[in-house]
Amino acid sequence: MKRTGILGVGKYLPENILTNADLERMVDTTDEWITTRTGIKQRRIAADNEATSDMAVKAAKSALKSAGLGPEDIDLIIVATITPDMFFPSTACLLQHKLGARQIPAFDISVACSGYIYGLTIADQFIKSGMYKHALVVAAEKLSSVTDWEDRSTCVLFGDGAGAAVLGPVDEGGILGASLGADGSKGDLLRLPAGGSRMPASIKTVENKLHTIKMEGNVLFKHAVKIMADAARAVTEPLGLKGDDIDIIIPHQANIRILNALAKRMGVDPGEKIYLNIEKYGNMSAASSAVALTEAVEEGRIKKGDTILMDAFGGGLTWGALIIKW
Ligand code: UT7
Repeated sequence: MKRTGILGVGKYLPENILTNADLERMVDTTDEWITTRTGIKQRRIAADNEATSDMAVKAAKSALKSAGLGPEDIDLIIVATITPDMFFPSTACLLQHKLGARQIPAFDISVACSGYIYGLTIADQFIKSGMYKHALVVAAEKLSSVTDWEDRSTCVLFGDGAGAAVLGPVDEGGILGASLGADGSKGDLLRLPAGGSRMPASIKTVENKLHTIKMEGNVLFKHAVKIMADAARAVTEPLGLKGDDIDIIIPHQANIRILNALAKRMGVDPGEKIYLNIEKYGNMSAASSAVALTEAVEEGRIKKGDTILMDAFGGGLTWGALIIKW
């Protein structure tokens, strides 16, 4: 059985930048609080007429170009998003049409911040089994559309963007292992309450701002550190890998303090091993680790033969970790 490799990566970030200084004028916050508590300096905000699929298609085209493939070569499309253009058709179907791909399977997955790692892992199964040759996995989010811009405890955290990868069979390296998990009993810690069948949209839900993200940040923080460390262990131990064997960690970018605590638990130097871009983009849910992987490749931080750990945690709760030999 061949392994699955990442043949190309891509990204798209909206032009509009929202800085901490801008937020100081919107809510009762300071650049100092945001920087020291989260590591975020700025984030990108999509244009009003720019939906998740518009960002997804740009990231997808850039990944296809980097893989040297065209839309006609793709056999499967998976989009990880919690901010789809609409309930249905899925963002993956909208993307398939916009790309001009063949009538291949296309579906969304709703896994919040762990969506890219779930998407890569699902694609890996289809490729390893031989059912499909090339898969396109896109993580795209317009979190600004579900942010309460008067809630300082959440609005300073999130940003918009998209990252993508094209996967296919490889002779060397590739995805060596994955570990996924979920704990629905803690779903209330991070949620968007209204708009679904439990609480359909009404004037009351809009007035009560129930179409925006609600988060118990402090409790989540503690879970994040433990769960990301456990996920890293669950994927590295069966492969006999230790912290020193990992060349670079590409994590979900929710909070720089979570990542420093993760590095401590793993016994690695955060400055040396952990790839960070949270300062520029904030938390883009599933798109965070996708854009981080793309930028680490673009910046030459990832070289052929490197062992990469991807590690994410998010609403659901969900988590996932992957080991890729580049
Ligand atoms: O994407 C994956 C899932 N998400 C996460 O994993 C996020 C995990 N959580 C976090 O990153 C952090 O909990 C936050 C960054 C969200 C918050 O940091 P914290 O250190 O946990 O702060 P806190 O919620 O305990 O709040 C501390 C204080 C509070 O004031 P009092 O009650 O101590 O007077 C807040 O009201 O900071 C206050 N505060 C702010 N102050 C200035 C909360 N937000 C802000 C703000 N500016 N933007």
